[in-house]
Amino acid sequence: MQRSLSGIKPTATPHLGNHLGMVMPAIALQRDHDPVYFVADYHALTTIRDPALMKQWSYEIAAYFLAFGLDPEKATFFRQSDVPEVCELQWLLTCIVNMGLLERAHAWKAAKDRGDEGSNVHGLFAYPVLMAADILIYDSHVVPVGKDQVQHVEMTRDMAERFNHLFGETFVLPKASVRENVGTIPGLDGQKMSKSYGNTITLMQSPKKLRKQVMQVVTDSTPLEDPKDPDTCNVFSLYKLFATPEEQAELAGRYRAGNFGYGHAKQALFEVMDAHVAPARERYDSLMGNTDELEEFLMAGAAKARIKAREVLNRARAAVGFRAV
Ligand code: TRP
Repeated sequence: MQRSLSGIKPTATPHLGNHLGMVMPAIALQRDHDPVYFVADYHALTTIRDPALMKQWSYEIAAYFLAFGLDPEKATFFRQSDVPEVCELQWLLTCIVNMGLLERAHAWKAAKDRGDEGSNVHGLFAYPVLMAADILIYDSHVVPVGKDQVQHVEMTRDMAERFNHLFGETFVLPKASVRENVGTIPGLDGQKMSKSYGNTITLMQSPKKLRKQVMQVVTDSTPLEDPKDPDTCNVFSLYKLFATPEEQAELAGRYRAGNFGYGHAKQALFEVMDAHVAPARERYDSLMGNTDELEEFLMAGAAKARIKAREVLNRARAAVGFRAV
């Protein structure tokens, strides 16, 4: 069976972009893949400096996956830092990867151009090498990610090919899987939703807070009475991500008819979003209320992951002339 693998950084509760671009596609793949997913806490350490937050957000991600339907029987789910073998594989890859390849990474270049906090730490530059190790150490075939991570998966293939070429066939070459029909998800201000733009919407909140966020979506100043164009409206773009085609046609009709304000549209958006989260909310809250259960789940996942990680690490060690450990 093909293995699907992905990771998500514990730098916040997953936002809508993560939800549609990564979490839900990753969970869907469990139907016919061997699902291996993790909380990328080593990666988060490039920016997170608060150990309590690191723990809290890591639990939130684990609870989030379970609440939205990850099957704990089928999946291997763990914290990246519970499988330290990946750091050793990162070193083996560090020794064969060219600086030029890393210098071309869009995510790194963008962080540097923005002058993000921590954009000059070595870990951020080396980020794609650790990510390659994450993917290669589990012999992963498919990597469900948002569009912004596709280049990192391509870089992983480059590193794997170079290693295989230098030391003989060692790694499986992975492929990114991007959910094409999702397209770019607009944030509160209409720009692409991203934590670095500060425009994210978080689904997993109380209905009251969720509604408050939805009310902040930016709209134009067309007067209430005038007809409106759904196709240029952020509220409608977000609505489309959750509503059935019939619901979409209905709302578009109301936009065009006039006497329909953005406040009404936002209420409709809140309702479809809330209907989507409501079934997961209770499970999420109960998991977050008792982190012992989450801890057990994560530890069991790490034990399973380590067996595979050690096998592939030893294969790579043997390839370069080290003994197995
Ligand atoms: N870089 C990914 C992100 O920022 C997280 C990540 C870390 C990842 N390691 C990975 C994703 C391995 C897929 C595979 O979202």
